[in-house]
Amino acid sequence: MNKGFPQGFLWGGATAANQCEGAYDVDGRGLANVDVVPIGEERFPIIAGQRKMFDFEEGYFYPAKESIDMYHHYKEDIALFGEMGFKTYRLSIAWSRIFPKGDELEPNEKGLEFYEKLFKECHKHGIEPLVTITHFDCPMHLIEEYGGWRNRKMLEFYERLCRTLFTRYKGLVKYWLTFNEINMILHAPFMGAGLYFEEGENQEQVKYQAAHHELVASAIATKVAHEIDPENKVGCMLAAGQYYPNTAHPRDYWAALQEDRENYFFIDVQARGEYPNYAKKKWERLGIDVEMTEEDLALLRDYTVDFISFSYYSSRVASGDPEVNEKTEGNIFASIKNPYLEASEWGWQIDPLGLRITLNAIWDRYQKPMFIVENGLGAIDTPDENGYVEDDYRIDYLRQHIAAMRDAIVEDGVELLGYTTWGCIDLVSAGTGEMKKRYGFIYVDRDNEGKGTLKRSKKKSFHWYKQVIATNGQDLG
Ligand code: BG6
Repeated sequence: MNKGFPQGFLWGGATAANQCEGAYDVDGRGLANVDVVPIGEERFPIIAGQRKMFDFEEGYFYPAKESIDMYHHYKEDIALFGEMGFKTYRLSIAWSRIFPKGDELEPNEKGLEFYEKLFKECHKHGIEPLVTITHFDCPMHLIEEYGGWRNRKMLEFYERLCRTLFTRYKGLVKYWLTFNEINMILHAPFMGAGLYFEEGENQEQVKYQAAHHELVASAIATKVAHEIDPENKVGCMLAAGQYYPNTAHPRDYWAALQEDRENYFFIDVQARGEYPNYAKKKWERLGIDVEMTEEDLALLRDYTVDFISFSYYSSRVASGDPEVNEKTEGNIFASIKNPYLEASEWGWQIDPLGLRITLNAIWDRYQKPMFIVENGLGAIDTPDENGYVEDDYRIDYLRQHIAAMRDAIVEDGVELLGYTTWGCIDLVSAGTGEMKKRYGFIYVDRDNEGKGTLKRSKKKSFHWYKQVIATNGQDLG
């Protein structure tokens, strides 16, 4: 009996354009929402669409402007991924490199060239690219002119982007993700859908309308991807992490089920092809009226995704008791604190078994192949004078999560295509904008204020992960 990972399992790492590329105004790139979110206290209200910041303002530091400048370092970085033995590298396209304003009819050739060279570089090292079409980014022009994803016109712009990418990169890319963590619309709507709320607006209505547009756009992307190249595989992407009831009290179980539904809502549509009844009932209760056409519903039904990808950092806890509200930080949305779990320096609780539970829950719900496209530990690293970091804490975290993932495959029989750790090279944190919250196997000399040489150095975990991949997950050190 096979006791390990399947042959051809796609080991690798993941990044997002705005968190690593920098070069925000180079080669014709247009301004995007992800550029104008500064580090500091106002970051979250901006991300959440509550504080308006549509351009750079005096007195703020915007980490995405330069980030780790992967735009100019990609060859060196991909060579390091190759040295670790990556089978895949998950990256995202900066929409405003391809269509600087978003509504042009013709793409920006310089932007297309950049990714073409990058994909070719990946293949040179035997790495299969896994491409997120939008990882939180939206050209600012589309936000100012059309209001972001609340507007149906976005379907047209997104389809044009997708057609351009699928045509140009045919034969170079076969794995695509339509929207990073699509459920973030509900928690970080400026990042998730370019939404800024005007005074007095029904925010839930706007969010679900935007969600509908993204869901239809995702179905169109799947359709077009298959038409252009039947080899293409298209996945959805969820910020996952199963909810546990806080106690065995039935009302806590009910609360956990409701919270899970809020997340699975998106995947229920993308994987099963229709709006679930619980969502329709919720909209009825809240007086939400999502405008949709018969054609939209047919697209959702006919073009479901090929696989389900997700990020996993932690499980979450829900309570039906209004008195219980001690929260802990998590991936954008906070959860009730789980007393049985340790936490990272940022308060994200650590739960490897929760990954096995989440894998099983998703598998039981959909029976579609899965892909873990983010997992990792954000921690403060202290390098020696050569940039070397002894990051045993990171190795421990990853070892336990990989073991849980192996159990889910070997003992439970879930189907998993691959695993890409988050931030395989240190990059800017999406949640806080910090550099000191590091996830990488590769240390990058840059700090929260943007100072540093950008020099790349291998951490202890670099060598460890290399061995994990070389043995197809048999040797976890
Ligand atoms: C996910 C995102 O939310 O988690 C990434 O897809 C993000 O973009 C990652 O970086 C980790 O979160 P953070 O806030 O630690 O960067």
